[in-house]
Amino acid sequence: MKVAVIGCGTIANAAHIPSYMNNEEAEIKYFCDIIPERADAAVEKYGCGTAITDYHEALNDPEIEAVSVCTPNNVHAQISIDALKAGKNVLCEKPAARTYAEALEMQKAQHESGKVLNIGVVNRFNDSVNRIKKYIDDGKLGEVYQVYASFRAHRQIPGLGGAFTTKAIAGGGALIDWGVHYLDIVMYCCGDPAVKTVTGEAFCKLGKDMEDYTYSFMWAGPPKYDGVYDVDDSVTAVIRTSGPVITVNGAWAQNINEEDRYIDFLGTKAGIRLRYGKDFTLSTTEDGALVAYTPEFENTDMFQNEIDAFVRCIKTGEKLPSHIDTVIITSQMMQAIYDSSEAHKEITLN
Ligand SMILES: NC(=O)c1ccc[n+]([C@@H]2O[C@H](COP(=O)([O-])OP(=O)(O)OC[C@H]3O[C@@H](n4cnc5c(N)ncnc54)[C@H](O)[C@@H]3O)[C@@H](O)[C@H]2O)c1
Repeated sequence: MKVAVIGCGTIANAAHIPSYMNNEEAEIKYFCDIIPERADAAVEKYGCGTAITDYHEALNDPEIEAVSVCTPNNVHAQISIDALKAGKNVLCEKPAARTYAEALEMQKAQHESGKVLNIGVVNRFNDSVNRIKKYIDDGKLGEVYQVYASFRAHRQIPGLGGAFTTKAIAGGGALIDWGVHYLDIVMYCCGDPAVKTVTGEAFCKLGKDMEDYTYSFMWAGPPKYDGVYDVDDSVTAVIRTSGPVITVNGAWAQNINEEDRYIDFLGTKAGIRLRYGKDFTLSTTEDGALVAYTPEFENTDMFQNEIDAFVRCIKTGEKLPSHIDTVIITSQMMQAIYDSSEAHKEITLN
């Protein structure tokens, strides 16, 4: 299966390209980036494919069956829709898009084309996450009535003044960049419950005065002090669903010198703390005693699993849990948090 990788930056090189290289069914025919050196570097590094700067060239090639969209968020919708209209199957990085409206346009194009549109909600291919989902499905936790998601870093605003902190490019900050994964894990593990109400506040505080922002580490840096900073560096929200109530606290930056990256699933019989990207501990009681255990198992590479499943589903027609139809709710929830924050009131979803 001939594929094109569109956007040859961090996530393409860290995950998509190596995973396609490891997949016996896939062959990368094009590396596309608007920065020609990045596409050229990929051809050189991986020893295959052709470097291009305009993704339409790949879309016009009838041999191409699938594309990975690994660009910044502002062009996810346009490139994915163009690709679907050209009859290509698409794996688009998370978040699906900057806004819920854009995500709906993408879903519409998927429905009209009948081609695959999966979103890079890669935790749906993570072994810890799948194990927790099975525990919940099997009733091991009893009724899961609340889920608490925390993704808080001390001072980790990425690329201050760049694409990540410019709303017109990214669509938002800590919530849309990190929170998307946490909300998606919660929804997946809890069986994608219907969302009823959303109330939230998103704060643009610590990065606002860019020159004054102090940090020890900046991924996606260095800072561009003549750039834009108009996104949330922290967020809090309460979401009522037909299943658990979800509470969310996230921060790229906060004045607490500790990091928290976990999700607590609180059930009537047992609770689970998932340490994001790692293992989990289950706490329960047994014959009047308090019991806690941390299962040990092999955690396979979730990005490899994601790409393998994408390639496979194009052949089999299987609908993956990362299909736009399933994950679009996360876009709607994030939009509702931003809308609630702007209006300072609760939003009711249908
Ligand atoms: N799944 C994950 O855990 C994960 C992790 C990191 C990033 N991401 C997502 O991946 C996407 C890219 O992030 P990144 O960190 O790799 O960014 P990046 O800036 O390192 O790479 C993006 C690349 O896209 C190129 N590009 C921009 N517009 C283009 C266009 N029209 N055509 C072709 N190339 C274009 C840029 O030149 C750049 O090289 C973002 O949406 C981000 O949210 C996901």
